[in-house]
Parts: sequence; C-alpha cells; structure tokens
Amino acid sequence: MTNESENLIFVVDDDAAMRALVERWLKREGYEAFGFDGGAECLEALSEDMPEAICLDMNMPGLSGLETLERIRERFPVLPVVVLTADGSAGTAVQAMKLGAHENAIAHGRMAQRVTQLEREVEGRGYPGIAGNSPAMKAVFRQLDRLAVTDVSVVIHGESGTGKELIARALHQSSSRSKGPFIAVNSAAIPENLLESELFGHEKGAFTGAATRRAGRFEEANHGTIFLDEIGELSANVQAKLLRVLQERSFQRLGGSAMIRSDFRLITATHRNLADDVRAGRFREDLFFRLAVFELELPPLRRRKEDIPVLAQVFIRHHRDTINPRVTGLTPAALGVLLAHDWPGNVRELQNVIQRAMVVANGEEIDAVDLPDRLRSTPAAAAAIQTEAVADGGTLEDASKRLLVAALQKHEGNASAAMRELNIGRTRFYRMLRKFDLEGQIDELRKSGGA
Ligand SMILES: Nc1ncnc2c1ncn2[C@@H]1O[C@H](COP(=O)(O)OP(=O)(O)OP(=O)(O)O)[C@@H](O)[C@H]1O
Ligand SMILES: [Mg+2]
Repeated sequence: MTNESENLIFVVDDDAAMRALVERWLKREGYEAFGFDGGAECLEALSEDMPEAICLDMNMPGLSGLETLERIRERFPVLPVVVLTADGSAGTAVQAMKLGAHENAIAHGRMAQRVTQLEREVEGRGYPGIAGNSPAMKAVFRQLDRLAVTDVSVVIHGESGTGKELIARALHQSSSRSKGPFIAVNSAAIPENLLESELFGHEKGAFTGAATRRAGRFEEANHGTIFLDEIGELSANVQAKLLRVLQERSFQRLGGSAMIRSDFRLITATHRNLADDVRAGRFREDLFFRLAVFELELPPLRRRKEDIPVLAQVFIRHHRDTINPRVTGLTPAALGVLLAHDWPGNVRELQNVIQRAMVVANGEEIDAVDLPDRLRSTPAAAAAIQTEAVADGGTLEDASKRLLVAALQKHEGNASAAMRELNIGRTRFYRMLRKFDLEGQIDELRKSGGA
C-alpha cells in the first residue's frame, strides 16, 4: 500500500552536494524533501511512498536518469518529474521531454541554447534546408550521400507531408546534375488527358487547343532531374509510355514524328505501397523495376519525434520576418504538446501549426495556449502542459488541480475513469477533490456531459 504525502518531494542525484542543495531549496519552499543517491533506490521507495513530484538527475551511474524516468512513467504516467540536467546532451533532454518530463528553471534557459546548437549541427551536414537529427533522418542522409554519386532512378516512399519533394531536390542539388534543371511534376494534379502532353510535349495542332508547339517536361529536364510525384496514380496508358521512355531515353511529342532525346535522371515519389499495387495488377511490374532501382523510405514524423524541436525552431526562424519578428522560440510546455501529438500531416502539418502559433503568440515564445485545441486536448498533451506549468513557476498545487480537472472533464465526471487516467487511488482522489474544493463539480460535469 502506498502512503501519499502531501508535501513530499523525492530528489534523486548521485552527487551528494547537489542533492543537499536541491533539498535545502525545497525545504525553504515549504516542501518535505527526501534524497536518494540512485534511481533504483528511488523506484523501490515509490512502492511505499507517493511523493507530489520527483526531481531527477539525468546523469547518474548505474540506472541512468532516463531509464529511471521510463520506469517511473510506466507506473505513474502523470507524476510530475523535474529533470535536473547540468550538462546532459541535447539527445537526453529531448528523450526526457518525450517521456513527459520537463527541465527545471535552471536548465530551462539552456534548452534554447541547445536547440540552436542542434540546428547548427544539422545545417553543417551538406543538405541545407533539411532539418532532422533523428536516427531515421541520419539514415536518410547517409542514403542521399550514396545516391548523389550515382545516376540511378529512385522511388521515395512516404506519407503526405514527410518531405519527399524536399529530399528529391536535395538529391538533385548534391548530384553531378546540380547545374541542370530540376523539374517537378505532380502527376495527380494534372488531368489524365493533359498529362501526356505535359510530360512529352506536343506539336502545333496535335489536338484541339494545341495552338503552338510545346516542349514536354522530360524535354525540359535535359541534363537535369525530373521528379514525378504521386507515381501510383498514373493511368495504364501513361505507365506504358513512361516505360518506353525509360527504355529508350527518347520519345515523340504528341502529334510529332521526330524522336527527341533527353538526358534526365528520374526520381519518383508515392504515398502508396507500390509493391501492393503491382501485386494487385494496378501498377506495371516492369515499370516498377525500372523506377525502383533504389527505394528510399521517409518515415512519418510520429516515428521520429526527436526531430520536432529542431524542425519547430527552423520554422520559427524561417517565418519570423514575414509573420512575427518577436517570436524566437517555444516554451517547454508548448514543446511538450508538440511532442505528444501524432502528426498525421507530418512535417507540413508541423509547419502550419508553427505558422499559426506565430500569428497568435503574444510573447517571445510560443506557448501551449498558442497551439490549436485539437493538439492540446489529448491526455498526453494535458499532462505535458500541467507538468510544465510547475517548471514555469506555477505551484505543484496548481498543476495537480488542473490535472484533476482535465481528467474529470475528459471522463465527464466519471470518478473511476479519472482515477485510472491519473493512476491514483480512491483515497488520494477524494482527498484531492476536497482539498481543491471540486466536490461539487463532479455533478456539474456529469450533467454537462450528459452521461
Ligand atoms: N526535414 C525537413 N526540414 C525542413 N523542412 C521540411 C522537412 N521535411 C519537410 N519539410 C517542409 O514540409 C513541407 C512538406 O514537404 P514536401 O512538400 O517535400 O512533402 P511531400 O512528402 O512531397 O508531401 P506530399 O506527399 O503532400 O506531396 C515543405 O514545406 C517542406 O519544405
Ligand atoms: Mg510532394
């Protein structure tokens, strides 16, 4: 059975001097502080005593701060954890943020510094304009390094908004064709009857409306790169034509007879599973093999959340001049919300969210309130906001109260569901309700929720 102590805070740090300092500071603020010199000891104590919050050093021998945090999170998803990092690497800080921790006031100022540092690292890599430091993006950069010295056809797979066109451009820029043109064609945006003439051109009078001769995109791409987006949407007719062009490296304009030669590199992209389309007979297998000499996979943003801080920072910098020059960064609470979101629209969605937030932001930092409701209303985001509120100078009481209200609202006054969400017992739950004067509100919520 766990004893819950109103004012108790655990301090976990292997450095005794640092621990004493934090304990002293907490006691001065009216808390009861209890110190541990390792994560294991703290976890053991958590089966007996439930503190209001934990101050956790990230840099410890034995069970690391991050491992300790992970285990705390498994058992107590919303227990506030203040991360103490004197010199933790940016990676550790970002991972800790993902686990719903936040940096304390001391480390807060360093976050911005770290992101700037991250940004510099990222930009030094030779693919300007592409931000990302996740293992997934590093793998993409390594593949680009290899592909840049070849001339093979590449298919880029990735959900909408993951940066497929950006990557295609980068590949062109770093290849020997960089002095030539980069021609991008969105196959899905062009009506079927016009696509053929768009790609291969036409002679004057080739069809009604063809008043003049027009060069096609393949012709324009001579000595450069042609990028065909949404390749999975091509009709059987265009697929057949494309296959011939790839075999012969020459083609005829519509209504023409002369063979036009063009020296192009072809990069294609799709959000569909082309292999499935081939199996289902929707996409020609022979064309697939020609296009997919190399397949590059761009993972969705939700699987590389480590990239979110640096992407957000890059977008803030890009849009400062045009939207709001005052904004220079994000609060940890806002970052917590961004990290909790699933990003179905990927990097494009993140960019839109940042742009919108810059429009509404009042201060120098984008705060959680500046973010759209659909991002803020999930339990994970709520926890991030509440937890961050502690670091931002709010009291633990405020944070616990808001957590409680958020959980009750979400479950329309259902006490058991709220307890489960907060992972707290019945005694503690009702004690908190009384303490925060919320007993009356349960009925209100139940009525308004109609449950
Ligand atoms: N790693 C990144 N760094 C910086 N900006 C990025 C990154 N990835 C994507 N973007 C930006 O996000 C937006 C969407 O990228 P892009 O158009 O390349 O995606 P896409 O995969 O081609 O999308 P769609 O499938 O909808 O055509 C662009 O504004 C792009 O500049
Ligand atoms: Mg695109």
